[in-house]
Amino acid sequence: MKASSIHSSLALLALAAMVNGCVPKSTPPPSSQSEAAALQADPAAPPPTAQYKPVKRTGPAAAMEKSLAGHFADQFTLGVAMEPHYLSDWAQLIPSTFNRMTAENAMKCARIHPAEDKYNYEPADQLANFAREHNLVMTGHALVWHQETPPWLVQGSPADVSKKLKAHIDTVVARYADVTDNWDVVNEVISDKADKMYREGDEGSSMFAAMKEQYIADAFKYAAAAVKASGKTIDLYYNDYNLAKADKREKTLKMAKELRAKGVRIDGIGEQAHWNMTWPSPAEIQTMIDDFVKAGFKVKISELDISVYPKDDWDKKVWEPERPFDDALAQAQATRYKEIFEVFVKNAEHITSVTLWGLTDDRTWLDFMPVQGRNNYPLLFNDLDQPKPAYFALFDVKKP
Ligand code: GLA
Repeated sequence: MKASSIHSSLALLALAAMVNGCVPKSTPPPSSQSEAAALQADPAAPPPTAQYKPVKRTGPAAAMEKSLAGHFADQFTLGVAMEPHYLSDWAQLIPSTFNRMTAENAMKCARIHPAEDKYNYEPADQLANFAREHNLVMTGHALVWHQETPPWLVQGSPADVSKKLKAHIDTVVARYADVTDNWDVVNEVISDKADKMYREGDEGSSMFAAMKEQYIADAFKYAAAAVKASGKTIDLYYNDYNLAKADKREKTLKMAKELRAKGVRIDGIGEQAHWNMTWPSPAEIQTMIDDFVKAGFKVKISELDISVYPKDDWDKKVWEPERPFDDALAQAQATRYKEIFEVFVKNAEHITSVTLWGLTDDRTWLDFMPVQGRNNYPLLFNDLDQPKPAYFALFDVKKP
C-alpha cells in the first residue's frame, strides 16, 4: 500500500475544505472517498464511526484465556488503538490481550483542545481512566498533526502560534503524565514529494504555513520541558508512515539528526506500519530498523494493520475489488503477521512497543479508506470479537 497518497489526498481535501469553510459539522455517513476524507479531516467532526460496518456483536466480548501481550512481555509491550465508546464492548478483552493503549483520536489537538480557552478532556480521560484501572500504559498521540490542527492554533504571528503550541503541550502532557510512557510529539511532517523536505501548506500543513518548520523543533522542546516538569520518564517520538521506504526514511533521519544536533531532545522514531500482505518485505523492515538503530534512535511500531488489498494502486487510484475473507486468506494473513512479528522479536532490544491500529475488523479505518464500504480485514479479531488465525499464529512466534 502506498499510504503516502492516502495522506496527501486527505491533506489536500482538508486544506480545501478549511479554506472554503465547507466541511460539514454533522453529516450522515459519507457516500464517497472524498466525503469520507473531508469528514475525517474536519477537526470538529466526531470519529467516523458511522462509516463502519453495522455492529453484529450482541454483548461484551469475553476475556482471552492467554495474554498475547504476556507472550511478548520479555520483548516489547503490545498495544491497541482505542475509542472511548468501544470500551464497554471490550472491557475484558482489552486487558486480557494488551498491556498498552493509544487513543485513536481523543488526544489529537483539535479533539482535546477545540478552542484556545476550551479543553474537551472527557473522551481522553475515559481512556486514561480505563488504562489506569487495568494497568495499561498509554502512548500519547499526537501533540502536533496537520490533520487535527485546529484553526485557532495557527492564527497570529509565528511567535503567537508557538506560544499557543506551548500552552497546549504543557497542559496535555501534564494531564496524562502518570499514565503515558511516550508521546508522538510530531506526526507526519515529512513531505511525500521528492523535491520537498517538509509537508507544507499544499500538503495540508497549516502549522508550516504559520511557522515554517520551526514548529517541529518548538514542539519537541516544549514536550521535553513538560516531561521534565512532570518528573516522569516519558519518551518523545517522531511518528510517520512509509518509513520502510528509503526516501521517506532518509528525510526523516535527516530531520531527526538535525534536531539532535541543535540540542533538541528526540528519543525515538515510530513507523506507523499501515502495511499490506506483501509490502514491506521482512528484509525491508529489517533495513528500516537497522537504520534507526544505527542513528541512535529507539524504534516503535505505532499503528500496525495489514490490508488484504496489496494491489491497490495509489498513484493510478485503482483499487482491488472486495474479496471475501475466506480460509485461504485468513491463513495467508496469519503467515504474514507471523513473519512480521518474527522481525520485531529478532529486534526486540531496540523495539519499545508494537501497537495494533484497532482491535476488530468491523472497526477499522481501512473500511472507508481508500474505498468507502469495501470491507478490509486488517486486524487480529473478526467482526464478532473472535480471534482470527493471525492472532493464534502470533503465539507461535518464538524468541530466536
Ligand atoms: C494516521 C494517524 C492516525 C490515524 C490514521 C488513520 O496514521 O496517525 O492517528 O488517524 O492516520 O486512521
